[in-house]
Amino acid sequence: MATIVAIAGSVRAKSFNQMLLRAAIELAPAGTTVEAASIADIPLYNGDLEEASGLPASVEALKERIASADGVLLVTPEYNNSLPGVFKNAIDWTSRPPADLRRIYGGKPIAVIGATPGPGGTGMAQAAWLPVLRTLGTLPFFGARLQVANAGKVFDEHGALTDAAVRGQLEKYMASFAAFVARQAG
Ligand code: FNR
Repeated sequence: MATIVAIAGSVRAKSFNQMLLRAAIELAPAGTTVEAASIADIPLYNGDLEEASGLPASVEALKERIASADGVLLVTPEYNNSLPGVFKNAIDWTSRPPADLRRIYGGKPIAVIGATPGPGGTGMAQAAWLPVLRTLGTLPFFGARLQVANAGKVFDEHGALTDAAVRGQLEKYMASFAAFVARQAG
């Protein structure tokens, strides 16, 4: 059984990216478990804090969720044609200390999807993650793309993904990423 930890880069209650993450859990193929991890309790990175008291418990917990998963799914909003600072802040924390980087991220299958109410589908944010994923030493998944545009129309008022076409795209994406993860894990 392959496990994927999914992290959304927005902490607001009605986040479209949280909705997309929940739909990814729902539409994951049989034999793959997708579980959400939150960045809500991660403080701003502060090197003084790290030096004085090490990593916050929330960061240690997120690191271990990533280390123990076979794959990672980042569900990213797009801010100003790039990735959100709050999301990168969380991932930056998990890259500390450098001696631990290989254990957490080395060769780890990782995929990026995202949703926006705008027309662009988070393509710019997804591209902005690439140098980060390379620097972390991950194994990025390039077998498919999922850019959810017009998010206000594809989710209903309860946050369910109701657009049939996007559901189909997400289901295919998750099957493809899960197979990639299973190949690396096996
Ligand atoms: C945005 N938004 C946005 N959307 C987009 O498609 N391209 C962009 O460049 C930006 N830029 C941007 C900057 C800032 C500072 C904010 C706050 C927002 C809109 C963004 O996609 C929208 O707020 C989403 O709803 C954010 O994701 P969640 O919180 O719904 O997951």
